[in-house]
Amino acid sequence: MSIQEINEKRLDLKKVPYHIAIVMDGNGRWAQRRGLSRIEGHQRGLEAAQTVVEACEALGVKILTLYAFSKENWRRPKREVNALIGLLQEYLKERQKELLERDICINIIGDLDDLPTSVRDTLVETVEKTGRKKGLIVNLALSYGGRSEIVAAVKKLIDEVEARRITKDEITPESFSRYLFTGNLPDPDLLIRTSGELRISNFLLWQIAYTELYFTTTLWPDFGKEELINACIEYQNRERRFGLTASQIRKGELSQ
Ligand code: IPE
Ligand code: IPE
Ligand code: MG
Repeated sequence: MSIQEINEKRLDLKKVPYHIAIVMDGNGRWAQRRGLSRIEGHQRGLEAAQTVVEACEALGVKILTLYAFSKENWRRPKREVNALIGLLQEYLKERQKELLERDICINIIGDLDDLPTSVRDTLVETVEKTGRKKGLIVNLALSYGGRSEIVAAVKKLIDEVEARRITKDEITPESFSRYLFTGNLPDPDLLIRTSGELRISNFLLWQIAYTELYFTTTLWPDFGKEELINACIEYQNRERRFGLTASQIRKGELSQ
């Protein structure tokens, strides 16, 4: 994507969201409308994800969290589940070198233990190899569920308190956040959901407390850099108030 293309769209590159999270929904409907199989829809969905990763690099987004597979998605037909996970594993294996060259840091959030060993091995290897890269952080949410994530954090905290490594009083919203899969990463600034569904579907429940939401009826395989830029422009036109009044925000009290 050229700088000219970005400028033409009136996007302020200094105010691009630092962290974008996306519920990549609508692959099945995209395929059905074309008389294709749902799996072909997922293939096209993976291509859309690649386009969006490239666009985020060009725009200077620092973190991209992609909801690729939810805890609840395990209940889909086995054939679809296997195809989806297989597609992702194949992609990571084939593109590892390219990801390294582009300085992309891959991180996984979700319950890796739910995945077959060979897939887990690919994921662990990719995370280990790309982990210290300084470019775009791509957080892949795989076998992810927001409620399970919160429960797992609570269990880790109980262990910490029982081992007397922390006290009950040291548990605050800030310290609690560090026990989530997202660890020290900042919360998303912008959450996008495609396909017209107006729900969160168990994604990042804790982290999106003050995230700006952008819903579009575009089905995920049709989502591209154009619409990503539109979402960023809409984000830039919002006023994030975090509970303060508009006049406090204009006086710059938020940063104090
Ligand atoms: C999103 O597309 C991909 C995953 C949930 C893995 P869907 O497969 O949910 O597509 P629709 O919602 O059935 O159209
Ligand atoms: C959410 O989409 C999960 C992913 C995009 C991976 P779903 O298609 O599973 O969500 P629901 O079932 O429509 O809420
Ligand atoms: Mg769906």
